Amino acid sequence: MCGIVGYVGKRDSQNILIEGLKKLEYRGYDSAGVAVFTKDGLQVKKSKGRLANLESKLGESPLTGSIGIGHTRWATHGKPSDVNSHPHTDNSQKFSVVHNGIIENYISLKEELVAKGHVFVSETDTEVISHLIASLYDGDIVKAVQQAVSRMRGAFALGVLTEYEPEKLVAVRLASPLVIGVGEGENFIGSDIPAILDYTRNVYILNDGEMAVLTTDGVELMTLEGNFISRELFHVDWDIVTAEKAGFDHFMLKEIHEQPKAYRDTLSSRIDASGTRVVLDEVKMSQDDIRSIQQVHIVACGTAYHAGLVGKGIIEKLARIPVETDVASEYRYRSPIITPNTLVMVVSQSGETADTLAALREAKRCGARVVAITNVVGSSVAREADDVITTWAGPEIAVASTKAYTSQLVAFYLFGLYLAQTLGTQEAGYIADVIAELKRLPEKVERILEQADTIKNWAEQVATHNNLFFIGRGLDYAVALEGSLKLKEISYIHSEAYAAGELKHGTLALIEEGIPVIALATQEELLEKTVSNIKEVKARGAHVFGLNAEGETELVKTVDEVFAIPHTLQLLSPALSVVPLQLLAYYASLARGNDVDKPRNLAKSVTVE
Ligand code: F6R
Repeated sequence: MCGIVGYVGKRDSQNILIEGLKKLEYRGYDSAGVAVFTKDGLQVKKSKGRLANLESKLGESPLTGSIGIGHTRWATHGKPSDVNSHPHTDNSQKFSVVHNGIIENYISLKEELVAKGHVFVSETDTEVISHLIASLYDGDIVKAVQQAVSRMRGAFALGVLTEYEPEKLVAVRLASPLVIGVGEGENFIGSDIPAILDYTRNVYILNDGEMAVLTTDGVELMTLEGNFISRELFHVDWDIVTAEKAGFDHFMLKEIHEQPKAYRDTLSSRIDASGTRVVLDEVKMSQDDIRSIQQVHIVACGTAYHAGLVGKGIIEKLARIPVETDVASEYRYRSPIITPNTLVMVVSQSGETADTLAALREAKRCGARVVAITNVVGSSVAREADDVITTWAGPEIAVASTKAYTSQLVAFYLFGLYLAQTLGTQEAGYIADVIAELKRLPEKVERILEQADTIKNWAEQVATHNNLFFIGRGLDYAVALEGSLKLKEISYIHSEAYAAGELKHGTLALIEEGIPVIALATQEELLEKTVSNIKEVKARGAHVFGLNAEGETELVKTVDEVFAIPHTLQLLSPALSVVPLQLLAYYASLARGNDVDKPRNLAKSVTVE
């Protein structure tokens, strides 16, 4: 998983490539590089580490030229190093390639090329591509790329330059995202839209198995077999500041604060004028299709998986259909029982997560209908699913997902209500109540955000510890899992989330004097039981931070500190209770001096299995 950019036009390309890469650093940031066609031929500069390292190298000796490609890397094959950074070249240095994805058969290709005398310098799969293209080149770069790609197995997006045809930039997409930006007298490639949005709002979104040839004068789209394609330009109407920090110290904090808007946007136009029914025009299932659903499988990774755990509770409660939630990387290898009456729901912020995409394809192969919840229009998941519920959260840049998760919850509420309306599993009055309460969520999140200082104080206490626990029952347990993941990934504090009633079956042995326990107790029906579990950890010396619902009076007698979320329906409380946990992770990460937006070892979009 990496980010690629490319430029061809009349301007100097170096700065355009660097600015584009800055927008893509969330895709990976262990090294970066650019290749530019200069008066001295194709020149490459690359550097291990953050983009700033490359920038300072280029500052000392810039590359001047108006066609170039750039790359920001998240290592798969070969450790982060200067030599493993992209762009990669062949031995003649006449061909240069940037690549996002994995070439599965690179070892056999490499052996074949070595036997022909090619000398490799890196440990990467990508270097094979530049050598392969060079070995197939016969005066036509487009043909050479097509022939090379026909020999490659795996997932990839490519940008290719050759000194022999210095006016052309060739781009390829096969299962890794790539967009083409169309300007006036200049054209661009990028792994996603923010990378090129400073320069153009007109884009072509390449589909799998397609390629593009860019010159200063235009863009030709074709299949990998060379058949020309005509396609409408897609006009992007995002505001560029949406993709920038807008005055917040970090993207994560900005994105936490964007949740009220994300809620409003995700709900808007999906509730009818009377405010009592959900309208999901994008779901094309007939009433018969809905009635035939016997089970739902929700499949996703990481935070999206945690949203799926809440989704299970929502759909089972509202539609009374049995639901299983699975981690995508496990799903297809456990021979899941998928029948034509199984509805498979995949959840993915990026819409490009390889494990989730593979699960989607397996579900379709087995004949299931697939509904996707995703944040990225035109993503692979969105294109391959039968129905798509888009979460209108806007671009999420921080590696730690926040507004995408909460918007996924909103999508589950809408879908659960939609099923309930069709199946008649809930009274119309109850559906109207849930809808009314959904509409109040944005204002309630705003109230939580106003009390961020309380959570900051908790975070500063928590940040001095190396271990802690999250506990909760029912939906609180699902949210506890997400709170624990968020804390781990950005503060690097070890934490575990437990179903509160499960502690006494082993984990209680780890509770010792002073250990922080974050206890979620927003589910009124389960409150008494949760309080008993909190007493179990208190008795063993834990320092308990409790989350309850406004107006509740029992918890405060048991815990050391308490934070009340605004009162809402129990079913909707995850959409509120996760917000203080996001803030807790954010401030704990800050207190520990970590890079909040770019936690170590992680990347935003995981396009490898
Ligand atoms: C954690 C996080 C990840 C993602 C996971 C799936 O904050 O963001 O756990 O949720 O990698 O990514 P998507 O939703 O893009 O499929």
